[in-house]
Amino acid sequence: ITIPWTAEDAQKGGFEHYMLKEIFEQPLAIHNSLLGNFDKIMSSDFLSSQDFSSVKLIACGTSYNASLVGKYAIEYLAGIPVTVELASECRYSSETREDPLVILVTQSGETADTLAAARLAKKRGHRTLAVTNVVGSTITREVDNVLYTQAGPEIGVAATKTYVTQLMAMYMLALKLGKSRTLRRDEIHRYTHGLKSMPRTVSNVLAKSDEISEAVGMLTNAQSAFFLGRHINYPTMLEGALKLKEISYIHAEGYAAGELKHGPLALLDSNTPTVAACVWDMSYEKMLSAISEVAARDSPVLGIGIEGDRDLEAIVDRIISIPEVEGILSPIPLTVAVQLIAYHTARKRGCPIDRPKNLAKSVTVD
Ligand code: G6P
Repeated sequence: ITIPWTAEDAQKGGFEHYMLKEIFEQPLAIHNSLLGNFDKIMSSDFLSSQDFSSVKLIACGTSYNASLVGKYAIEYLAGIPVTVELASECRYSSETREDPLVILVTQSGETADTLAAARLAKKRGHRTLAVTNVVGSTITREVDNVLYTQAGPEIGVAATKTYVTQLMAMYMLALKLGKSRTLRRDEIHRYTHGLKSMPRTVSNVLAKSDEISEAVGMLTNAQSAFFLGRHINYPTMLEGALKLKEISYIHAEGYAAGELKHGPLALLDSNTPTVAACVWDMSYEKMLSAISEVAARDSPVLGIGIEGDRDLEAIVDRIISIPEVEGILSPIPLTVAVQLIAYHTARKRGCPIDRPKNLAKSVTVD
């Protein structure tokens, strides 16, 4: 007998690539991350203490983008100032009088620069928390406390389910920190409900995979693309651009839409498509006007917006709709949309999606 599939095919569970399988595992990963963490975080003493007045998030790569989302979420929900640093830059930082809670975000727990940053934070006497996906990884031995993202093993080099579970961790930490500071009980209830609905919200975006595959036609032959967002979806679009670069080899830049006029407008033309996130939050009107500016330069626009948004639909070339969610939680469904945009673009270009050239799943040298 000839068996037409290999052991690797079996592990991919019928999906063409690990990356797609892992994108589709996200509802379950989100569910597991809530189940394994929510109650524990909300009752943790470690995060209850009032004696840190700021938070510092440190990470590399995709985990850095998750940390930027964390900054917006923690500042918005808990009113605590947050700084975000690239782990590779930490070694040049000066010691200040601040005594922040330092959160190291690393899916593998093995990234050399992030480990070095954890050691430096300890040396400076700061309290440290690691957000990681790998039980027993090196970072877990370097810090005071650990939050496991519970995404399950991730094989694809491009991080997907580890990223959305890092976002879940950021929201849970923000709610915990906000609980004793700024958030009313009904607000905590509302956001908790939003998080608990995420597996369903994300499944809804996954159901659009074929539609997204069709919509990426405008990206497949591009040499360069822009990803625009504002507020908490500015880092979402940094992540979208990073995913596209990693697996499709198209040069992509994530930009805060307000910065367009300070340079990138000069690069826009009919060969330079733009992916724009536009949800019903405080940045909505400004995003609409940025998209109009882009469209006026003939850049083909793929908009990602809330179901039923006719105003957005009227000014973009293609639209991908996500279900309506709290604006502050919108990075999760939007991320799933940009992951699928990157995946389908790379697939159409025939790229080796699970093993992009020159990249490693975890970088253990600094
Ligand atoms: C590598 C991986 C990225 C990852 C980054 C940080 O560059 O290819 O996907 O985001 O390392 O990894 P970490 O394990 O620290 O999150």
